[in-house]
Amino acid sequence: MIIDCDPGHDDAFALIVASKFAEILGVTTVAGNAPLDLTTKNARIILDICGAAGVQLHSGANRPLVAEPIHAAYIHGESGMDGATFSPPSRPVDGTDAVHFIIDTARSNPGAWLVPTGPLTNIALALRVAPDLVSTISGISLMGGGRFGNRTASAEFNIWCDPEAASAVFDSGAKIVMSGLHLTHQIMATSARIEMVRNAHATVGPKLAGLLEFFSKTYKSLHDDFEGAPLHDVCAVLALTHPQLFGASERHVAVEIDGAITRGMTVIDDRHVIARGKANTRVLETIDSDAAFSAIVEAIKACP
Ligand code: RIB
Ligand code: CA
Repeated sequence: MIIDCDPGHDDAFALIVASKFAEILGVTTVAGNAPLDLTTKNARIILDICGAAGVQLHSGANRPLVAEPIHAAYIHGESGMDGATFSPPSRPVDGTDAVHFIIDTARSNPGAWLVPTGPLTNIALALRVAPDLVSTISGISLMGGGRFGNRTASAEFNIWCDPEAASAVFDSGAKIVMSGLHLTHQIMATSARIEMVRNAHATVGPKLAGLLEFFSKTYKSLHDDFEGAPLHDVCAVLALTHPQLFGASERHVAVEIDGAITRGMTVIDDRHVIARGKANTRVLETIDSDAAFSAIVEAIKACP
């Protein structure tokens, strides 16, 4: 898999899980939770932590295709990954052209999955430059969208940041597996689970627990009924490494671009009418969250 991310607390855990359970062909970064320089620095840090410092890392888009760049320091902190102190990253990025890295790597690894966990800017650009990717890759397992929003009542942050990119991806013809908010809110970093993380590794455990404590504190301060921060992005990886943990439905999904109050909404066609849109997306609906969290803990234990 090629992971395109904007670390980001939950992106960090997605990278750790992928390093344990998947073959990471490369990692690319995009602006989203934080500006590109910070999401890229955070990716370098996490790849060190999970013993994947040799994985190719290329930075990409520093802003959406059309929308003005907006970040999420109110959730992830000014660093994009507040809550723990890490050693400076051991390695630089390998390049700054994520789009062509994605294209070249996908073409030389037929059957690869693209796993975007941030705004879809890099993915949309890659598909525009190389439409052949649609048939070269196995598909795109993305965290984004859902049956409700978080940044607005109808739009989830990754889609809301760059709706034009998201629309191009969902309309591309590629096989899409979607981890939307109605799924990801089923796996929250509760206090008990944060202790499981803390105790999972002598050195890395406390740091990762600190990340979750920060992430959960901001989430609980903004919601009236959350037990902790949802580990959104991990779902996009587990959907491929642990498919047995999920229930899904095949649906047509489109992204609203022009709505005055619905821009960035993923419109999921649940109608039972024969004329409903042809399914282009596997919408993940349920997750065995305890088993999923056990996989996260197993991945943390595997860190060097
Ligand atoms: O809405 C949740 C998504 O936005 C996650 O990918 C999180 O990392 C942020 O990017
Ligand atoms: Ca993310």
